[in-house]
Amino acid sequence: MAGLRLEAVSKRFGGTHAVHEVSLDIADGEFLVLLGPSGCGKSTLLRMIAGLEEPSSGRILLDGNDITDAPAQRRDLAMVFQSYALYPHLTVAQNIAFPLRARRRRRARIREQVAAVAATLQLDELLGRRPAALSGGQRQRVALARAMVRDPGAFLMDEPLSNLDAKLRSATRAELIALHRRLGATFLYVTHDQVEAMTMATRIALLNAGRVEQVGAPEELYDRPRSVFVAGFLGSPPMNLFPAVVRERDGRLRVIAEGIDAALDIVADHSERDAGYIAEHEVLAGIRPEHLRLEPGSADIRGTVSMVENLGSEELVHFSIGEQSLCVRVPRPAGVSVGDRIGATVAPERVHLFDPESGLRLRWQEPQPTIHAAHDDRPVVPVP
Ligand SMILES: Nc1ncnc2c1ncn2[C@@H]1O[C@H](COP(=O)(O)OP(=O)(O)OP(=O)(O)O)[C@@H](O)[C@H]1O
Ligand SMILES: [Mg+2]
Repeated sequence: MAGLRLEAVSKRFGGTHAVHEVSLDIADGEFLVLLGPSGCGKSTLLRMIAGLEEPSSGRILLDGNDITDAPAQRRDLAMVFQSYALYPHLTVAQNIAFPLRARRRRRARIREQVAAVAATLQLDELLGRRPAALSGGQRQRVALARAMVRDPGAFLMDEPLSNLDAKLRSATRAELIALHRRLGATFLYVTHDQVEAMTMATRIALLNAGRVEQVGAPEELYDRPRSVFVAGFLGSPPMNLFPAVVRERDGRLRVIAEGIDAALDIVADHSERDAGYIAEHEVLAGIRPEHLRLEPGSADIRGTVSMVENLGSEELVHFSIGEQSLCVRVPRPAGVSVGDRIGATVAPERVHLFDPESGLRLRWQEPQPTIHAAHDDRPVVPVP
């Protein structure tokens, strides 16, 4: 098993900058998910690691060894593709054995290894069948088995579940998590599906247009998104985002927009205020739909219900404040209908603030009330 390191890896296709100076350290035994929208460079990055694509610049290290220019078959990595790429004329057992045969292992040894992997993935009963006689999930397991039989340094997987239906996908997801636990192997897994990323990853690297936007544990990205892009990408329905100003009242900072006047988790420092530190500050504010509470009498947030969506156990109540549309997720039945005037509240620590220009998260540091941009700790609230 092995750790992987990417050092400023870039890939250009003519004028397209598919991957832009990506640096990542993937620890031995980690399940790292490369997540991002279509075309952000996930597959290209994975293919460069696998040796199927040559980086325009940068270095790739496996267990400290530079493999940037090593041919694919010399890299101790196994790749599982979205299309399982099984040989249709070979049986399951022959498909699984293929990489060992190519390496000219002894027959008895091959049989042993195939049997062991087949047992792990519960393919024992299917060894004599051909791929055409398997379900999508079974084919996927055969493709995995073929990767596993080599006992590679790391597994590279490119959207391996995207051909499965919802139920099978969720079952196979659970199997992959269990498999990762059992093998303790390094997994590098590409997907554009945030549910897969949130449930399987030990860490997520979220890519945006060829660059790493944020790397961290799934909760970290969800709870403390580093940018508006991360905030908007994770979460369904997405985070409510609206332009607002931060203003001080009665010693506390509040986030204020049309129909919105809610407390923030920031204490204003009076000595600094007197020195003119805290001025009105424009922000992009964000609140997740599950962090809003309907409260009829509340004056924090007031709007008019525009649509109610029934999700079964919950309801999404969409409401508008002027031009702005917000969504709150509540247990069903919410007891409101289209046209109702509603009030809502939010806990102060649940309000995310972003810089409207850079899109980066603003944070504050107690006891100083100055707001900082997350990327470089530069105070964003004007300092005299
Ligand atoms: N061989 C190629 N020649 C030219 N451009 C390419 C090539 N391969 C990929 N690209 C471009 O590079 C960018 C990244 O592509 P890539 O396949 O890595 O995206 P992705 O994140 O895997 O997307 P998806 O989720 O749709 O699979 C895209 O703009 C794509 O059009
Ligand atoms: Mg892809």
